[in-house]
Amino acid sequence: MATKVITGSAMMKAYHLPESTPPRPPRLAATVLKSSALKAVASHDSYQGPELTMQLATISRQVAQFRRALPQVRPHFAVKANPLPPLLKHLQQLGVGFEIASLGELQLMQELQVPGKHIIFSNPIKTPASIEAAVKYGIDWFAFDCQEELDKLFALAPQAHYELRLSTSGAGAVWPLTTKFGMDVDAAKSLLTYAARHHMPVAGLTFHVGSQCGRVQSWLEAIAQCKILCAHMQALGLPLTLLNLGGGFPCAIAKDEPTLATLMQPLHDTLANLPPEVQLVAEPGRFLIAAAGTLTCQIISTTTRQQKNWAFLDCGYYNGLMELKENFGYELCSRRSGKLSPWTIAGPTCDSLDMFAQPFMLPANSEAGDIIDIPNMGAYANTCATNFNGFAVPRVCIVP
Ligand SMILES: Cc1ncc(COP(=O)(O)O)c(C=O)c1O
Repeated sequence: MATKVITGSAMMKAYHLPESTPPRPPRLAATVLKSSALKAVASHDSYQGPELTMQLATISRQVAQFRRALPQVRPHFAVKANPLPPLLKHLQQLGVGFEIASLGELQLMQELQVPGKHIIFSNPIKTPASIEAAVKYGIDWFAFDCQEELDKLFALAPQAHYELRLSTSGAGAVWPLTTKFGMDVDAAKSLLTYAARHHMPVAGLTFHVGSQCGRVQSWLEAIAQCKILCAHMQALGLPLTLLNLGGGFPCAIAKDEPTLATLMQPLHDTLANLPPEVQLVAEPGRFLIAAAGTLTCQIISTTTRQQKNWAFLDCGYYNGLMELKENFGYELCSRRSGKLSPWTIAGPTCDSLDMFAQPFMLPANSEAGDIIDIPNMGAYANTCATNFNGFAVPRVCIVP
């Protein structure tokens, strides 16, 4: 994936006009150009394919907003949300820690010389090699949610500290993470008893309410469970020193959404009543990075099927728009003006998975060649994109 970093006044130019304009494709014969679809394509021949523009200033604003909302919580950016080194470096300069899930993400941390003590390894299932490398690098906190992983940690990282991951309901999350991860309270209690019996250094609790969760009660419910386990741990001689609130903090996609501080006020108040010896951390991914990214793509073709408007984009499920499958509320902003009407949106590949069930609003007179900007695409878009079927993943342009 090509990434360019733009500085200073080159920024706006770079956004609209590529630095080096590629050679124009040969002109089509005038008779062929009579088709309005082809005219539209020809009029945007400076367009170079899907591009994700990431704005560092927005990341700074999101970090500040997170700190305003939950000042007692240390944020550790979930690297999986967008692992591009210039973005990680920017977050590092802002004093944000990191949450990693793999050896590959650890290597990124090493390249950026992020100190091990600023990193949490929260994937509940880890390879032995990644645990060994993380211990060697000085990482102290590791998650687990089953006895097998706990035993593995104790064998490979006996001096480290472990956080037990609880399951959550996933209520209120657009992208729940419920089925795959976490223990219920009863199972957690018996595993904690086992840990205490074997003198295993379990000292933390964690959970993930699911991604893009606008329901603060989900955190409160999880914390209520943590309080039960905290008392159990205390009785077992395993005092709690870390409470990790996970990720899931929602990016404000619709314009009228409340600020994070407003939304999280009840959580802020609940945290204020926890014992001061419990360190509070969180692992926001989407919240810190999504609003910083705008994905620009193009309509390749339009048609009408069963009285419905269809627009085929050059970016789809596989090469950047995976999340349009779910109900995140992303808006497609056409650079064409006109009365909006519902459109069925599909990506460019030959797979039927590459289309989206819910309609999106676009000008009724949309045509092939129209440029579409999709805000709030800075998380999980470029990271999860593949060039399946030969369609390019978005180039990334980083601007101040
Ligand atoms: C362990 C862990 N922490 C944090 C995150 C980040 O979540 P979000 O981007 O919803 O904030 C994830 C996402 O999958 C995760 O698995």
